Amino acid sequence: MDYNKFFSDDVPFFLGSPVREIFRAVDLSSIYSFAGGYPDAATFPVEEIKRLSSLVLEKYGSKALQYSGTQGIPELREVIARRYGVPVENVLVTTSSQQGIDVCSRIMLNPGDVVLTTAPTYLGALQSFLSYRAKVVTFGQLNGDGSARDSNPLRESKESDFFADSQKNPTSFDPTAKAVPPLPCRGRHAPEGVTVPRRTVSAPNPKFCYVIPDFQNPSGETMSLEERQELVQMAREMDFIIVEDAPYRELRYSGEPVPTIYSLAPERTLHLGSFSKIFAPGFRLGWIIGPEPLLEQIYKCKQSLDLCPPVLNQYVAAEFMGSGALDANLRKSIDLYRGKRDLMLSLLEKYMPSGVTWTHPEGGLFLFVTLPEHIDTVALYSKALSTGVAYVAGSFFYPDGSHRNTMRLNFSYLDTSRMEPGIKLLADLLKETD
Ligand SMILES: Cc1ncc(COP(=O)(O)O)c(C=O)c1O
Repeated sequence: MDYNKFFSDDVPFFLGSPVREIFRAVDLSSIYSFAGGYPDAATFPVEEIKRLSSLVLEKYGSKALQYSGTQGIPELREVIARRYGVPVENVLVTTSSQQGIDVCSRIMLNPGDVVLTTAPTYLGALQSFLSYRAKVVTFGQLNGDGSARDSNPLRESKESDFFADSQKNPTSFDPTAKAVPPLPCRGRHAPEGVTVPRRTVSAPNPKFCYVIPDFQNPSGETMSLEERQELVQMAREMDFIIVEDAPYRELRYSGEPVPTIYSLAPERTLHLGSFSKIFAPGFRLGWIIGPEPLLEQIYKCKQSLDLCPPVLNQYVAAEFMGSGALDANLRKSIDLYRGKRDLMLSLLEKYMPSGVTWTHPEGGLFLFVTLPEHIDTVALYSKALSTGVAYVAGSFFYPDGSHRNTMRLNFSYLDTSRMEPGIKLLADLLKETD
């Protein structure tokens, strides 16, 4: 039977993630995996969750198993509002921050609308933007060698960094393919009339700019206060919304916190938070902090998606956050991850051949490696897997599929004792490829 005639015109724009394909194809526990963005399972407060689940059922009974408001239960909205110092009206609970990204896209994007984001950027966000047939326009966040830029990347982005017209070439990723996975917005031309950045845009302006300012996925880099201020200034002048995706913000291992973009521009920022990296991703809970008129549309939009976020999970998360248990657990997680980050950095220093550089994140779960130009991490991937080591090719985070000499490495998931043999294997593979 041919099912194609049943599909909507949107279906070709639903791109499969190569990262998810890796998970489907390979049993990652059997190899040295630096691929996924999984937290270390040791950070999951299993005993506390057992205790709080009973407590919640005692305290709330069947209410904890009933449907609840689309905006989230009041108890959870209140503890989130208290923690981040905002009125409860500005908080909406989501079924994780992936849903947060998607509902922001859904309420703002028409086909052909421009979304501004960094290159590289989070793949799951690109999937969402493209499913609404947006044009994704990027500005650089890293220098060619993978180090962070000294000056503001927004000021420096060039027309040649842009790609356009996502309508023409829908396709799906194949992480093991030899050819560049042709994301649908390849090409080197900005949409007609658009020269980003700086106030020379005649049409169409970006609807919103999507950034991960703290310990970005995939680069691990953090936007400075000046970069955040400049982005806000640009958003005010060009009149676009900022979607600030901050699932890693509370996982800082060194350096000083930088104010959120929301705190700089609460009138035009949707700040996305998540319990996934600070509690348990299986809970599928997150939140959006933002202006009430935007949250009101998201509230309506979400009614057709999930009616309400998982209710029992919300009660447990509210107790966990409200009682101070989250902070205690965070302190342990931060100590663990700081050690893992430092170990990964020292192993890269010890084993990587010359010509390889990497970022030095102050938090989060990832760092980004840049290899000599001639090494193609997409082409190398099957060999890496058969050798027993996994990474994510960096080009998957560039909407134009460029930067094939880069890779994202996760340092949170793998057991400390397995990191050295894993990095050594990867370094040996790169030396052979040299
Ligand atoms: C930047 C970013 N945003 C959103 C998500 C989605 O997280 P969740 O839906 O589990 O909250 C991830 C997951 O890795 C991410 O890296």
